[in-house]
Amino acid sequence: MFTIIICRDYEEVSNKAFALFRDQMKKKPNSVLGLATGSSPLGTYQRLIEDHRLNGTSYRDVVTFNLDEYIGLPEDHPQSYHMFMENNLFSKIDIRKENTHIPSSIGDAEENCKAYEKLLEPYDIDIQLLGIGSDGHIGFNEPGTPFDALTHIQVLDSRTVRDNARFFDNDVNKVPKSAITMGSGTIMNKAKKIVLIATGANKADAIWGMVKGDRDINCPASVLQGHPDVVAIIDRAAAGRL
Ligand code: GLP
Repeated sequence: MFTIIICRDYEEVSNKAFALFRDQMKKKPNSVLGLATGSSPLGTYQRLIEDHRLNGTSYRDVVTFNLDEYIGLPEDHPQSYHMFMENNLFSKIDIRKENTHIPSSIGDAEENCKAYEKLLEPYDIDIQLLGIGSDGHIGFNEPGTPFDALTHIQVLDSRTVRDNARFFDNDVNKVPKSAITMGSGTIMNKAKKIVLIATGANKADAIWGMVKGDRDINCPASVLQGHPDVVAIIDRAAAGRL
């Protein structure tokens, strides 16, 4: 079930997403947080950091799980999701490194997928942050991925590679062509609450597909139609087709 909140702009989207995470932290200081990368979550993370600094919200007892990681980039590559999380959140709050989890792209990728599912086994994710790709992907679950997929290796769609080239000197050749991602099935089974954020007109088709389209693997985010608690916080441009 979707609750849709339409906001003026990215700032308001970030404020509202932050408020849901802050409330969760207040309610349960040892929350399990599902985290995402990309441009969309940056404003939310900035506000969490600010709240930690100003109000002392502590992450000592928090456990986190990230959605995905590129295959083929060393973990210390500036565009790896390991570095993204370190630079944009983890190094700026008091979270314990051993409580943060990101799929590993080092070594045997198939084994890493199984290991990630195993790591997740004892947990429920209290609140899961999600962005959405312009092709409707969540995590890196691209169109055509079965809705019950677990953590798996995903070949990236050419559209995703193009979209993400902006992080790689606008050179599609530098963008990794595959990733390890939590599956749609993993997200659906593990997350008790989902907060999906999207801004910009290039997300309008994906948001339409997620909310109004058929529940169909061609729009991976439409799997969320079957989830009991999804808050979609989007700006007017992303809501343009609703
Ligand atoms: C990336 C990530 C997704 C993210 C999406 C949108 O490729 N794997 O988790 O939600 O694409 O990114 P952005 O927020 O930068 O538009």
